[in-house]
Amino acid sequence: MSTSHSDRPVRPVALVTGPTSGLGAGFAKKYASLGYDLVLVARDEVRLHDLASELKTMFGTESEILVADLASEAGRDTVALRLEKGVEVLVNNAGFGTSGEFWTADPALLQSQLDVNVTAVMRLTRAALPSMIASAHGTIVNVASVAGLLSGRGSTYSASKAYVISFTEGLSGGLAGTGVRVQALCPGFIRTEFHERAGIEMSTIPKPMWLSVDQVVAASMKDLGDDKVISIPGVQYKVLTTAGRLVPKGLVRRLTNIVGRGRGRT
Ligand SMILES: NC(=O)c1ccc[n+]([C@@H]2O[C@H](COP(=O)([O-])OP(=O)(O)OC[C@H]3O[C@@H](n4cnc5c(N)ncnc54)[C@H](OP(=O)(O)O)[C@@H]3O)[C@@H](O)[C@H]2O)c1
Repeated sequence: MSTSHSDRPVRPVALVTGPTSGLGAGFAKKYASLGYDLVLVARDEVRLHDLASELKTMFGTESEILVADLASEAGRDTVALRLEKGVEVLVNNAGFGTSGEFWTADPALLQSQLDVNVTAVMRLTRAALPSMIASAHGTIVNVASVAGLLSGRGSTYSASKAYVISFTEGLSGGLAGTGVRVQALCPGFIRTEFHERAGIEMSTIPKPMWLSVDQVVAASMKDLGDDKVISIPGVQYKVLTTAGRLVPKGLVRRLTNIVGRGRGRT
């Protein structure tokens, strides 16, 4: 659905994956509030339309809706085609965790996690960059996690986020001087649908470890302004990840296993 009007001044466009809930909804609202039009990408068509109406009412935003499953090649191709036409901002936010042990998890689910958390990020970034580089202007936020910085907690999810961090850091070097910014956003626990969807029990997580969506979006925007490639929202997580770099990896693995309960998650 495209609702652009020709008599309207041209606005910059932000494409956000996974805006039907949580952090992605926060990014969509933030960019809408800054005067961007949106391309909204997810599987839940009803929620995509609800969000588009809300953004229209709140900010006068025009939204394009792309119903796409990023676990499928066809879904990724649909989004890549739109990105090749040019956007100012890409937020690779869609992603999910899973519960249970790796050795009993459904291999198809593990593969789709890799496809959404990793393949889609790589493919959509590849699609967005040529036009951004040609216009010497653009921003890509790849949503990773503190889990990608601290080893020893779960397996496939942390590994997928470690890929996103390493990929983004590598890319930032290559993009120096092009006018295009990339960021790996590494939040800790955020109150969203993430844990419920994954079936992960969170009731024992101490209150100070929780971040709000608004807090994470604000930290990401500030760090983009400061040209920080790795954004870690919240003082508690800045301390934790700094400590994680300073102590031996074996100790980090043992501690994250205790604090983060390494069992029962992939
Ligand atoms: N919550 C946390 O504690 C936390 C911490 C660190 C990092 N993160 C990361 O933050 C990002 C956003 O997560 P969240 O916490 O906001 O979770 P959420 O509330 O569960 O939202 C996930 C979003 O991703 C979309 N999505 C999931 N699978 C998809 C697929 N196959 N194709 C297209 N879209 C898909 C969902 O949309 P549909 O269901 O409509 O498709 C939804 O909009 C993720 O990358 C997550 O790994 C979260």
